[in-house]
Amino acid sequence: MTLAQVRARLEWTRQPGAGPPPGILGDLSGRAVLELGCGSGHNLAVLAARHGAIVTGVDHDPAKVARAAELYGRLPRLQVVRADAGAYLATVPAGTVDVCLSIFGALSFDPDPAALLARCARALRPGGLLGVTIRAGDEHDAVVILARR
Ligand SMILES: C[S@@+](CC[C@H](N)C(=O)[O-])C[C@H]1O[C@@H](n2cnc3c(N)ncnc32)[C@H](O)[C@@H]1O
Repeated sequence: MTLAQVRARLEWTRQPGAGPPPGILGDLSGRAVLELGCGSGHNLAVLAARHGAIVTGVDHDPAKVARAAELYGRLPRLQVVRADAGAYLATVPAGTVDVCLSIFGALSFDPDPAALLARCARALRPGGLLGVTIRAGDEHDAVVILARR
């Protein structure tokens, strides 16, 4: 996998190029980013290869994790973990994550999103960001970015 094969930008929505500009998450170089429900890892790769972030993708589907590892596992600063998002978050030391993402990810599917949100808040450092995309309709997606106080 070369840089040219990595997506040009973080894709927040089902419409390529739509959604917040890349800079909305600030300078990610050397920052710890956690994606909850990373799928095949396309956005993880962007964050590691184009933004210099230290990324961890978490997904509970072994096929997705295998695919992400196959595609992007050799990129520096990128790891993929097979785990349930909530269980993984419980293992993360408090206040150590700079950015937590759920792009059509775990927060869209968890039966208890409030508990998962609380675990995200615990993992994030003060000032850290949580970026979430959800399907708001058949053709519309909503992106929400929250700052941890
Ligand atoms: C629709 S895909 C989105 C993948 C990726 N974020 C993207 O935008 O392409 C949702 C992913 O979240 C994963 N997922 C859903 N709930 C999860 C959970 N509780 N823990 C870990 N992964 C989860 C699924 O296995 C799936 O790969």
